Amino acid sequence: MQEVNQRQLWNTVDGWFEGLLVEADPAFEHALSASRQAGLPDINVSPSQGKFLHLLARMCGARSILEIGTLGGYSTIWLARALPEDGRLVTLELSSAFAQVARTNIENAGLADKVEIVVGQATDTLSGLSIEEPFDFIFIDADKENNPHYLTWALRLSCPGTVIVADNVVRQGSILDDDSESADVKGMRGFCEMVAAEPRLSSTVLQTVGSKGWDGMAIVLVTH
Ligand code: SAH
Ligand code: DHB
Ligand code: MG
Repeated sequence: MQEVNQRQLWNTVDGWFEGLLVEADPAFEHALSASRQAGLPDINVSPSQGKFLHLLARMCGARSILEIGTLGGYSTIWLARALPEDGRLVTLELSSAFAQVARTNIENAGLADKVEIVVGQATDTLSGLSIEEPFDFIFIDADKENNPHYLTWALRLSCPGTVIVADNVVRQGSILDDDSESADVKGMRGFCEMVAAEPRLSSTVLQTVGSKGWDGMAIVLVTH
């Protein structure tokens, strides 16, 4: 009972700040309702988290963004809206059906010319990206089990100053379960340990509560 009330309160607080600070934009409403209608899982970032990603990308002056895990393009739209006129965003998605929903949502947001969706296993499609053109900002939000691979690729595709953000690193505290059978938990723990061991990276994790429950994002800076 206590737990339910707590979650309701997180939700209400999230809603209050959204009303106050997250400007209404029909492109986001449309993307969420089209995703829901197409039967996509409701696992996009929250509006406040989307705005957080958007602000981070602007704060670091990102001109090129890589996203791993598109879903219906909700976080993609937040990130692409942070780009300058000549900016570009590449987003990787396994499901061609999800990618189709995202494509329509991104077009509807007027961002088709800035965003490229690449369909396939990200572990494969990442190798098709050019290391000659490093990304300024990388958002990792696909299958958590592959996060160690995604970090390796993120390092290859980055330069000093690149910001890497990984979603869902806390998952109701399951990150602490060091003998978990879950491939997702193993992947997340492996990712965090790799970040810690890599001298080129400086990082912290912010735990979050809100409309997405209890979770967190890793914020990682490529220092050299
Ligand atoms: N970033 C989105 C949510 C992504 S959900 C948002 O916040 O709006 C995770 C997505 O990763 C799903 O769409 C799933 O199909 C995709 N995915 C899962 N495994 C993948 C893989 N191996 N390669 C690429 N995408 C993958
Ligand atoms: C889930 C949530 C996410 O934010 C995500 O990227 C993938 C999965 C989930 O709740 O299952
Ligand atoms: Mg996520």
